[in-house]
Order: sequence, then C-alpha cells, then structure tokens
Amino acid sequence: MRLIINGKPETLDVEDDMPLLWVLRDELGIKGVKYGCGIAQCGACTVHIDGVAVRSCAIRASDVEGEITTIEGLGTPDALHVVQQAWIDHQVAQCGYCQSGQIMSAAALLDQNANPSDEDIDNYMSANLCRCGTYPRIREAIKDAASKLGAGAA
Ligand code: FES
Ligand code: FES
Repeated sequence: MRLIINGKPETLDVEDDMPLLWVLRDELGIKGVKYGCGIAQCGACTVHIDGVAVRSCAIRASDVEGEITTIEGLGTPDALHVVQQAWIDHQVAQCGYCQSGQIMSAAALLDQNANPSDEDIDNYMSANLCRCGTYPRIREAIKDAASKLGAGAA
C-alpha cells in the first residue's frame, strides 16, 4: 500500500487489516504516536488525516484516504506548531504519555474552531484521557494557542 505520512510518500507491504497505529510505530518507527487502549477509547494514538483528528488504532491503514500527519510532522524543532509552543509555555506534560495525542486533537480543534469556549474545549477534548490529570493546563494551553492564532502568530 501507499501512504503519505508527514509529507513523505511511503510504500509498505503489510496485511490489509493492520491498523494504522501499528504501521506507524512498528513498520515505520514513528514513535510519537502512542498505544494506549487499542480500542478507540483513550486518544493516545491520535493523528491527523487531511487535518482531521483520527484514532490510528481504530482505522485500517489500507482504508486511509488522505495525508497522514503525526506529532513529528506537526511542527519542526525550529518552527513549532503554535499548539506545541503553548504546551511548552504552560508546562502541560506530566508523564507525557498521552500528550502527543492531546496536542494532535487540540490542533485539529483549533483548525475547526479558532476561538473555542471552555465548554467547546472540554467537549472536544473529552475523548483524550490523561491519567496524570493535566486537563486544566491543557485547557489553558489551548486558549493561549487560540489567542496567538487570532493574533496571527501561526
Ligand atoms: S490507543 Fe487508540 S484510542 Fe487508545
Ligand atoms: S501526562 Fe501522563 S497520562 Fe497524560
């Protein structure tokens, strides 16, 4: 199968029913995407397909239509995505395990809704679980990123 991942074409010889998460981590070594539950319940494996947040554990790679972006392709070390910068500024991460999925969901939220309310944030992000309870800082960071996007800092 052929996929485009972080702007790079990849040709893979894998089983048709392999979930995208396994292709990313085990076949391509893209380890920013995390395995949490494997049943679309935690959000740790969130990636973008054409900018839309998708649970990579719950979609077969062979069913993907569109370009895949993982946390590795969201920004670069020299040019972080505004959400990544906000995460650093607000020191959101604790153990960090859930955070790439949180950031991918937050970036997709801001693509859809540039000025989310607290309720919008809580509703959208409620499917991304964090055992360390970083939810208050996640909300602060998203609001900060939204204000910077509004100010043209993206
Ligand atoms: S590992 Fe995919 S949602 Fe939990
Ligand atoms: S930072 Fe530890 S699970 Fe979210």
